[in-house]
Amino acid sequence: MKILVTGGAGYIGSHTCVELLQAGHEVVIADNFYNADRAVPSRIEKVAGKPVTAVYPIDVADKAALNQVFDEHQIDGVIHFAGLKAVGESVQIPLRYYRNNLDTTLTLLEVMEAHGCNKFVFSSSATVYGPNNKAPFTEDMPTSATNPYGWTKVMIEQILRDYCAAKPAFSAVLLRYFNPIGAHPSGLLGDDPNGIPNNLMPYVARVAAGQLPKLTVFGDDYDTPDGTCLRDYLHVVDLAKGHLSALEYANEHTGAEAFNLGTGNGTSVLELIHAFMKENHIDVPYVIGPRRDGDLPGFWANADKANRVLGWKAELDVNDMCRDAWTFIQTPKD
Ligand code: UFG
Repeated sequence: MKILVTGGAGYIGSHTCVELLQAGHEVVIADNFYNADRAVPSRIEKVAGKPVTAVYPIDVADKAALNQVFDEHQIDGVIHFAGLKAVGESVQIPLRYYRNNLDTTLTLLEVMEAHGCNKFVFSSSATVYGPNNKAPFTEDMPTSATNPYGWTKVMIEQILRDYCAAKPAFSAVLLRYFNPIGAHPSGLLGDDPNGIPNNLMPYVARVAAGQLPKLTVFGDDYDTPDGTCLRDYLHVVDLAKGHLSALEYANEHTGAEAFNLGTGNGTSVLELIHAFMKENHIDVPYVIGPRRDGDLPGFWANADKANRVLGWKAELDVNDMCRDAWTFIQTPKD
């Protein structure tokens, strides 16, 4: 199939492009490079050993530009990653988050409709389970959010369900990611945020590499076994493979369907830091600091549905994630 990957130069998008190419699909990337390096598409080609069909450096909310992509390529399906994703920032600039994340999705759906394209895989998040459900999360739980970023995911899921109800030929797969970390084992693709990282693993890797002095653990007084928060960390390569399974599912079904992509295991912040130090034989200096606003004590996936229906299961463990994140930060890129 010829797949349009929006945000295909980003962290999860780039790994998914590699898996698509290796599985024999054609890949067209649309990415405005707001949070991605211009060199990523060529790294994708190097890792996959195959060319990307086309790269459009466009904003997906630009309807004319997006129409041109669909005019120039017979797109069979879309995987939609493009979007703003920083929780804290979304609280500061909510309008930008709502405008960007909703506009890109609505524009895509309109342009897909005009071109008769009806397979859609959406990059959703475990954040849609909100603060009130009890882990492990299952797909039938009610959704809500605690910040504008999370609400954009909840809203887009609703838009997709409404659209599927109105368009019986349309298929939307809503992939609810837990905490993707790690990198491609080649060291060429990984999580490389601009500025100081918000997320735990890129922060740990930069401290280990001496680029930042020390890590602050946000709170050790939670009601968890070691007092630090529990998350369901998942290797980005496993996550990327989940998109392939989702695409196959979209090809054979219609309607909107949500799937958790996680391992089903909770790992604490301290466990992750110690796994990183042990796996890579390197010190990660850290201090315990106050809790971060908005953090939930612990959540992890029930991933049975993805396993049963998509035939997908995470195969890599926390040690693999730590090793590959470390390889990534040490690897010269070009
Ligand atoms: N943490 C630290 N120190 C840091 C960074 C993080 O102790 O410097 C802790 C956090 O407090 C949290 C854990 O590490 O307990 C994981 O934090 P991340 O920021 O890596 O991930 P979150 O679980 O907060 O958020 C992630 C995604 C969101 C998504 C959410 C729910 O970044 O986009 O999972 O799926 F919404």
